[in-house]
Amino acid sequence: MNKVIDQFSKRANTYSGSANWIADSTLIQAHIDACGKKPSLHVLELCCGTGMVGRNFQAAGFSVCGVDLTRQMAEEANRYFPCICTSAASVPFLDNSFDVVVLRQAYFLLDDGQQVLAEAQRVLKPNGVFVFSQTVPYSPEDRPWLEHIHRTKQFQLREFYTEETLKQELEKSYFKVDKVSHLSVRENINRWMAAAPELSPEKQAEVVGLVANAPADYQRLHDVAMVDGEVFENWNWVIFSSRKK
Ligand SMILES: C[S@@+](CC[C@H](N)C(=O)[O-])C[C@H]1O[C@@H](n2cnc3c(N)ncnc32)[C@H](O)[C@@H]1O
Repeated sequence: MNKVIDQFSKRANTYSGSANWIADSTLIQAHIDACGKKPSLHVLELCCGTGMVGRNFQAAGFSVCGVDLTRQMAEEANRYFPCICTSAASVPFLDNSFDVVVLRQAYFLLDDGQQVLAEAQRVLKPNGVFVFSQTVPYSPEDRPWLEHIHRTKQFQLREFYTEETLKQELEKSYFKVDKVSHLSVRENINRWMAAAPELSPEKQAEVVGLVANAPADYQRLHDVAMVDGEVFENWNWVIFSSRKK
């Protein structure tokens, strides 16, 4: 937990521009669409970071609250909507109080993922929707190399998830998946690494090299390309819409 706080407190200032997916309007709109709810309802964003998803729910007319473990990230989100600095494993909200709970790109960091899902279920109204998303491999062919890249970059990665294992996590105890959508977002790997001050320059170069020199199947699935000396690739996003069990 301390390692997560350490990593994200160093990145809070530059976080929102550190990768294309963070502010990608198509990806964010897909999260709003995935909830299938009308504006003015109540949304909780768990592990909200700088609140990029929540800000856009708010701009679409929803009433938004957030939580994040890292104080600097929560402070940034709090400029846009009320955000509490606390663990998503224990949130200070009443049972059945939100129409939508959203959790984007944080599950792989959690050491108590099932407890966070239990909290999401507890605070969600009976007819509420849980929108849960993460980057995952495109297929079994790119899975081992993608895991290798992620473990090289993210030393505190708890677990490497695929679409199937994320669905199992959701459906183990607390949710039933209703809908799944996919989206590719193109990333500049040099830029992603330049915005990772927690990594040494050697480690940053290693990650760029792992993408640039990936096996052929990986390069094909991720559409890896070199443009003006920088490495680009697609990342595969999965977005689950689920309801309470
Ligand atoms: C990769 S960022 C994603 C931020 C945001 N969800 C987004 O999509 O832009 C992961 C965030 O999860 C937060 N986080 C990690 N573990 C957490 C926990 N147990 N409770 C609350 N937040 C947590 C980190 O502080 C960080 O801000």
